[in-house]
Amino acid sequence: MKFRTLVGCVLAGVLVAGSAMAQQAQPIVIKFSHVVAADTPKGKAAEMFKKLAEERTKGRVKVEVYPNSQLYKDKEELEALQLGAVQMLAPSLAKFGPLGVKEFEVFDLPYIFPSKEVLRAVTEGPIGMSLLKKLESKGIIGLGYWDNGFKILSANKPLKSPADVKGLKMRIQSSKVLDAQMRALGALPQVMAFSEVYQALQTGVVDGTENPPSNMYTQKMHEVQKYGTLTNHGYLGYAVIVNKKFWEGLPADIRATLEGAMNESTRFANAIAQTENDDSLAAMKASGKTEFYQPTKEEIDVWRKTLLPVHKDMEGRVGAELIQAIYKESEKFGFKN
Ligand code: LMR
Repeated sequence: MKFRTLVGCVLAGVLVAGSAMAQQAQPIVIKFSHVVAADTPKGKAAEMFKKLAEERTKGRVKVEVYPNSQLYKDKEELEALQLGAVQMLAPSLAKFGPLGVKEFEVFDLPYIFPSKEVLRAVTEGPIGMSLLKKLESKGIIGLGYWDNGFKILSANKPLKSPADVKGLKMRIQSSKVLDAQMRALGALPQVMAFSEVYQALQTGVVDGTENPPSNMYTQKMHEVQKYGTLTNHGYLGYAVIVNKKFWEGLPADIRATLEGAMNESTRFANAIAQTENDDSLAAMKASGKTEFYQPTKEEIDVWRKTLLPVHKDMEGRVGAELIQAIYKESEKFGFKN
């Protein structure tokens, strides 16, 4: 071989090796899309996951968090996950119906969780795990449950009793159980993406809505809702989900590290949710823009009595056995159903 040819071969070899190394050094990117503000329990937990994942994989994984429906709205983000356009989401449990896993709507049943302890026993026990398993046939893996809080009602008129909600157009998430809940109150439920709620309230497209204080405050809904009632009538939480093909295709050591980071982020999310919501409620009260009403125990009983028939009505939707299984969990904590 001539000297020039030899030098050429060596150089080409160096270049190929160099580009292979450069390719190897490319981090694995996880796009994490969500619809709420960064300054919420979900937004903060997503940032915590990013921090832990990037630190512990020493930069081999890069997590890009896109809050506030920046990339996708509610329905689109689930499609994007299945197509692999994003890798991670944390949709609310009310949003899995359109995906074909309607059992998650059991979490929407009004007054089904008498306490956070009961909720935790469900999400961290066999019921929660078996629900996550149902996602696998949809090409999705569920990594855990993140808390937000209990929902309050809001509108531009005082809502002291269920009769006050009658005839109001109330925005809901895309859940048949939430639809039934609003109808039980005599309201007209309107399914709408989260990103559109503020404007719909402002322009009067809908009269009112329900959400935990953290979402209400960070979307500035309190600026366009004169009254709120602390009914705590339903729960809002999330399942953190990933594209199955992506997750299973990760190098085993990376996946294990990410699972550890996720478990810690889950603990973090569930530890901050209550305080975040308490702080948001306090901030809204201090703003003086929304007047909040705390129903008495007797008044809560009226809300409960009006809404409990929804459990029976929705047996066909979420499954009678699943509802019974949750009742059993509450009984373990001394609550009667
Ligand atoms: C909503 O659409 O009201 C909530 O699910 C938004 C969220 O993700 O908390």
